[in-house]
Amino acid sequence: QRQTTILGIESSCDESAAAIYTGDRGLVAHALHSQVALHADYGGVVPELASRDHIRKLTPLIERVLDDAGRPELSGIAYTRGPGLVGALLVGASIAAGLGMSRNLPVLGVHHMEGHLLSPLLEPDGPQFPFVALLVSGGHTLLVQVDGVGRYRVLGQSLDDAVGEAFDKSAKMLGLGYPGGPALAALAQQGRADAHAFPRPMLKRPGLDFSFSGLKTAVMLAIKAAPATAAARADIAASFEQAVVDTLVAKCRRALKQTGVSRLVVAGGVGANRSLRRALDDSATADGFSLHFPRAEFCTDNAAMIALVGYLRRDDMRAGIASADATPRWSL
Ligand code: KG4
Ligand code: ZN
Repeated sequence: QRQTTILGIESSCDESAAAIYTGDRGLVAHALHSQVALHADYGGVVPELASRDHIRKLTPLIERVLDDAGRPELSGIAYTRGPGLVGALLVGASIAAGLGMSRNLPVLGVHHMEGHLLSPLLEPDGPQFPFVALLVSGGHTLLVQVDGVGRYRVLGQSLDDAVGEAFDKSAKMLGLGYPGGPALAALAQQGRADAHAFPRPMLKRPGLDFSFSGLKTAVMLAIKAAPATAAARADIAASFEQAVVDTLVAKCRRALKQTGVSRLVVAGGVGANRSLRRALDDSATADGFSLHFPRAEFCTDNAAMIALVGYLRRDDMRAGIASADATPRWSL
């Protein structure tokens, strides 16, 4: 019998990506084009430029993964239906709908955050259910209890800025380029994390929600008050990063304790942060929970996670989707 073979397509923001996931061999091909250079001069993602670039890049990326996988017979197509930029999403949705029609394949619109949540399952030694997932990206800060595919309970979320957004905005104030997260993390390496006593937002209150806009303001005030030296900027970066890491680790520990779950998954772009990983590692050893990260390239946006969700939800795939369906605002 022919194995289930899913084509995954991602175009929700500034990466165009395609991947093939099969029932017997798992992920067999994936390819990605990042638009970072395209948007760098503007200091952020320009939606219209993003859409146009997805139009240029997606079809060649799909052809490439089909070649890399040895031109398999597909069973279905999964694409990111939302949340994201509407124009960018519509490009992926249109291509998925067109391919589905022309090849007579069922199509499934996937929630982007479900992709991030389940991305550690792409690894051979991925976690078992249930687990708690910390999703930290440029657009989201979420703590979710994951009991199985489609069984998600949001435990907490950011009431204002997402963590990645706080990194990016603080980096901008420190005069670093876009995207600021990795640049700020690099600068933090040279600074003293205890130089500034920045707030650990919402740690004193019960609950699992986050807030990062106050921290951002504290960074702005510190920059105004500090001398304009490289060392002073590094101290602010290090102290900011430490405040974020302390807050995230404390909320993860609280979530594990509250749910009685002993597995923690960390996904999303900020999951690439080395200080965060180190602090969580220490906490996992001290508190006795297991810690799972997707591999670095699948922490950020990718199509492998979308193809995986398509495979796990293959029974939900619908034949004959003729219109491009995008949902820019979509809660988990
Ligand atoms: O998941 P992602 O690639 O895109 C979405 O937002 O969906 O996450 C990107 C975010 C950006 O805000 C970026 O600055 C941040 O992740 N980021 C980091 C690091 N690498 C990426 N933040 C802190 N430290 C890093 N090493
Ligand atoms: Zn993402």
